[in-house]
Amino acid sequence: MLLLGIESSCDETGLAVYDTGRGLLGEALHSQVAMHNDYGGVVPELASRDHIRRVIPLARQVLAQAGVTLQELDAIAYTAGPGLAGALLVGAAVAEALATALGIPVMPVHHLEGHLLSPLLGEHPPALPFVALLVSGGHSQWMAVHALGQYELLGETVDDAAGEAFDKTAKLLGLPYPGGPALARLALQGTPGKFRLPRPMLHSDDLDMSFSGLKTAVSLLVRDAQPADHADIAAEFQEAVTDVLTAKALRAMQQTGFTRLVVAGGVGANVRLRARLTEALTARGGSVHFPPMHLCTDNGAMIAHAAGLRLAAGQALSPASASNAGAFNVRPRWDLGSLAPIHIPGSPDRAAP
Ligand code: KG4
Ligand code: ZN
Repeated sequence: MLLLGIESSCDETGLAVYDTGRGLLGEALHSQVAMHNDYGGVVPELASRDHIRRVIPLARQVLAQAGVTLQELDAIAYTAGPGLAGALLVGAAVAEALATALGIPVMPVHHLEGHLLSPLLGEHPPALPFVALLVSGGHSQWMAVHALGQYELLGETVDDAAGEAFDKTAKLLGLPYPGGPALARLALQGTPGKFRLPRPMLHSDDLDMSFSGLKTAVSLLVRDAQPADHADIAAEFQEAVTDVLTAKALRAMQQTGFTRLVVAGGVGANVRLRARLTEALTARGGSVHFPPMHLCTDNGAMIAHAAGLRLAAGQALSPASASNAGAFNVRPRWDLGSLAPIHIPGSPDRAAP
């Protein structure tokens, strides 16, 4: 089955062609980072308009790269949520319109399921079950992935997401948006421990996290610091987040009894976090699995791939709604735990956790 995937939930327009037998055949991405940089964050209306401008040229590009025609596609997958409503509507509208014109079905995909399953596109794909750490600009969650579509929330941030904390802290240090990569670069020139930041909820008896206090602590440090101190503050901030995530990772493995950890979402691109998690897990006989670096942040490949796995597992496709009721299916707020589990034909039924 040949799928076109469309991602437009935030500030990246991502397209990909995925074949359930042959894997990824083409990928194209346009990041709006430079456009939003002037405003210090994503401006939803500008994001929607830019998705409109980019999506068709990127679809042409990705089809040409894959060497397939529109007529050869079996279905169109798109991010239906969660995300910015206007931005999601662009991907949904294009997917529905194309599918209606081609007479093929659509598959709405949950953005976080796309992230969660993206390590399966990596060099060392994990077997199920596994623990997943989802760390993006909007989410920080620990999930137990029992089976495809069967996700159990183990814990999450009680305030800011980890990526949001990186972005806000970077702003305090005068770095451009998005702050995560810029802060990580600056941290390379600094030494953790020269300044001391808290490790919020490090010893809490659960898998919840809190990151907003870190940003407040950084703002107090920055007030009295010299610009020359910024690299040390960045290094200490990165170390504080990494300490918390590493400790919680070990707790999650202990709690579930699972041995495999998957890290997904933009913060999963952080090199220091990758190294610390790999060291901690392998020392205990476990393993850590990351998506390929360029698939950590938002992209179309993870959407086409998640849809492909669901298709391969026997999920029925929805007819394009434009040809039916005429209403597009987007869900700006959508709980990952509410997804219907997929039963792989022939596999024994698994009781819900
Ligand atoms: O998954 P993603 O592309 O978008 C969301 O769905 O949120 O994640 C973007 C987030 C941003 O907060 C960005 O600053 C962060 O991921 N990020 C990083 C790094 N690369 C991206 N944070 C820390 N270190 C990085 N290298
Ligand atoms: Zn994302």
